[in-house]
Amino acid sequence: MIYLPNLKSPSIHLFLFTFLVFLTCITCRREDQHKSGHQKRDFHTLSNEKVKKLVELDPPQWNSVTEGHLGKLLIPRASGSENNTLVQNYISSVFTKLGWHEEKTPFTDTTPIGEIEFTNLIYTFDPSAPRKLVLAAHFDSKWFPDFPANQFIGATDSAAPVALLLHLAEFLTPLLNSRKSRISSGNGILNEIYDEDELAETTIQIVMFDGEEAFRDWTNTDSIYGARYLAETWQETFLPSSHPLNRRRLSPPPSILNTIDVLVLLDLLGNKHAKINSFFRETDWLHDQMRSADERLQHDNLIEVEKGEKEWFGRLKLRGGIGDDHVPFLARGVSIFHVISNPFPSVWHTLKDDATALSLPALRRWNRVLRVFTCEYLGLDPDTIDTRSTKRSVDELVRILDQSPVDQKAKEGR
Ligand SMILES: *[C@@H]1O[C@H](CO)[C@@H](O)[C@H](O)[C@H]1NC(C)=O
Ligand SMILES: [Zn+2]
Repeated sequence: MIYLPNLKSPSIHLFLFTFLVFLTCITCRREDQHKSGHQKRDFHTLSNEKVKKLVELDPPQWNSVTEGHLGKLLIPRASGSENNTLVQNYISSVFTKLGWHEEKTPFTDTTPIGEIEFTNLIYTFDPSAPRKLVLAAHFDSKWFPDFPANQFIGATDSAAPVALLLHLAEFLTPLLNSRKSRISSGNGILNEIYDEDELAETTIQIVMFDGEEAFRDWTNTDSIYGARYLAETWQETFLPSSHPLNRRRLSPPPSILNTIDVLVLLDLLGNKHAKINSFFRETDWLHDQMRSADERLQHDNLIEVEKGEKEWFGRLKLRGGIGDDHVPFLARGVSIFHVISNPFPSVWHTLKDDATALSLPALRRWNRVLRVFTCEYLGLDPDTIDTRSTKRSVDELVRILDQSPVDQKAKEGR
């Protein structure tokens, strides 16, 4: 991704800051007037007790930064390389095991170093759902021509975000599966908080972008190869006439892009320090929700907060300024929540961005924040996992027996 202007002198820094605040104020006022236009979703805030349950669910948290998924991802994996294919195969194997729908978009593009083959990987829990929450990260690492620079790993950029998404998918799958089986047996939960039939209309999709990195210097044509390809492809793929969005007779007709509630893009995470500000007024509320998840986890001592890292989620409402995989989607009207540390980690684009740059407490904290955020977004309740549907029918049986004449007699006889 491309950096905001490099701020060398404090006075320039201060000037720019003031300018940003000024801009922010202007935009805030303007955006306030359009607030009703921002489609908010009902967040299903979980009780502290449920949050605690949720962090205890499988998979267990990491014991080291090199174990599990992260261990498989921490290799040089520039687009078009053999290692890049190995990483693709690994990601694919994780989702195949979980039973998610897979879509690959292989394509060739011209880069400053020649023709390169790229492949985006797209995983969807329920491909028939009309809407989706999209979480994304890039799995390629930056290419460098010479040794030793070509050993660049990109642990925060973006092996750790990819690993977090794999972990999240493993965590969500049993919850989503039990909802799915309840719904297909006509037992979807329906009460004042949950209407599962309706909730299940929004599924989760995880997009792993290839070719985020520039081969030389970041330009409009040398960067985000995968994201540019996908945004364009999706814009040109119209929904079937049976799709619910087609009932609204939109002009132009709705494309795959219209099925995206929001694209949450993770980048440059996993080191001790993080500072996440909100860049888009349309998704300020999602930033607030994620900060709230972090605050509640802190309050209940369910995460370890490293020294000086209490405030990962800043309160500055900034304007866009960081070029990354979201840009071609943003340009096409998709809502974006950019979860990127700004300023970037100090190891950014150096050989130091390897396993030693990662922090175990930070990874665990992200893992838990993402669990709470996605469950509250999708309306998933940790108490409904596993045996809920079985337990429910047993409860019902007990109730029926309770009311049966035989049972009444037995009770009277006692
Ligand atoms: C591929 O990954 C291995 C580590 O598994 C590494 O030693 C090797 O240098 C990488 N190859 C390239 C071309 O980067
Ligand atoms: Zn990078």
